[in-house]
Amino acid sequence: MTASPAFADRLLRWFDAHGRHDLPWQNPRTPYRVWVSEIMLQQTQVNTVKAYFERFMARFPTLEALAAAPLDAVLAQWAGLGYYARARHLHAAARVMVAQGIPDTLACWLALPGVGASTAAAIMAQAFDEPATILDGNVKRVMARHAGIDTPIEQAATIHRLYDCARAYTPAYRSADYTQAIMDLGATLCTRSQPQCSDCPVSADCVAWQEGRVDELPARRVRRSLPVRTTTFLALFDADERIWLTRRPSVGLWGGLWCLPECRVSADHGLPAAGESISPVCANATAAVPWAQFAHRFTHFELRASVRKTTKADSVGLADDGAWFEVNRLLAARDIGLPKPIQTLLAANFPPNESIH
Ligand code: ADE
Repeated sequence: MTASPAFADRLLRWFDAHGRHDLPWQNPRTPYRVWVSEIMLQQTQVNTVKAYFERFMARFPTLEALAAAPLDAVLAQWAGLGYYARARHLHAAARVMVAQGIPDTLACWLALPGVGASTAAAIMAQAFDEPATILDGNVKRVMARHAGIDTPIEQAATIHRLYDCARAYTPAYRSADYTQAIMDLGATLCTRSQPQCSDCPVSADCVAWQEGRVDELPARRVRRSLPVRTTTFLALFDADERIWLTRRPSVGLWGGLWCLPECRVSADHGLPAAGESISPVCANATAAVPWAQFAHRFTHFELRASVRKTTKADSVGLADDGAWFEVNRLLAARDIGLPKPIQTLLAANFPPNESIH
């Protein structure tokens, strides 16, 4: 792969005039802020991350504040961003960094929980201005088009070629700006649909543009329909209309978040099979009435949930991994982490200062 000597220069000139210079993590561009932003941006769009990032920094302005906070407080700030392992890793990494110092090499960043190759490179480039090559989804698309790489984007061999290409284009100067510039190009001009090639600073030697194949590249993966999993949640209320929430195990779906108790269901009627309750309260689900349904797409499956409602009978045993919550207060305070669909469900059924029925 031969670098196009002018690629970086053309891109940087465009960035100076048209790139994004006022993202919250750019001002000030400290290692702590860049790291948090990059973890948030791993699976989430810039426009969504901005507000979460500002709130997160207001709540945890320093690495020390983050490390000293309980995990629950971190998960509460993360609630709605999804992929909660990111928040748990962030918290664990903060504690490592307080003990060992903030890394200043690629290898040391890579050793931290939650930091992969592209994230480590993005941090080194943006926070330390060190040349390092990133390859997130946007950069993959730019590289595939510019170099005319037309093998399926998810294949390991394709990713190798894209990396080689990205490495060859990365300059030894203005590393922070170049990294932001290549991401901005992918996010604003070299977009998945309706790319604006006539405004692109590197279209002159873009293979896809020259060959009229921009719409074909990158070669799309065949999108399989997601497998469906069904489950039942129990909305258990007490006489004061407080709701019973349990904390989910730290590993697995919505790990560490607070949630309605989930009842393992039998295949045919959606109620717990005899002797199959996950939590003692689910023994009560057979007496509960249908209340709501929701569907939620995860990366590897779609969850279809039915929610059944009941009130606590004194005989119902409550496990000690749960607590009663007043729903309006819970939704207003946002002080514990709730999965997004559960938050939406509760908000829909508990308009502010009104009660259920
Ligand atoms: N995606 C990952 N990091 C990003 C950044 N710094 N700016 C825009 N998009 C990103």
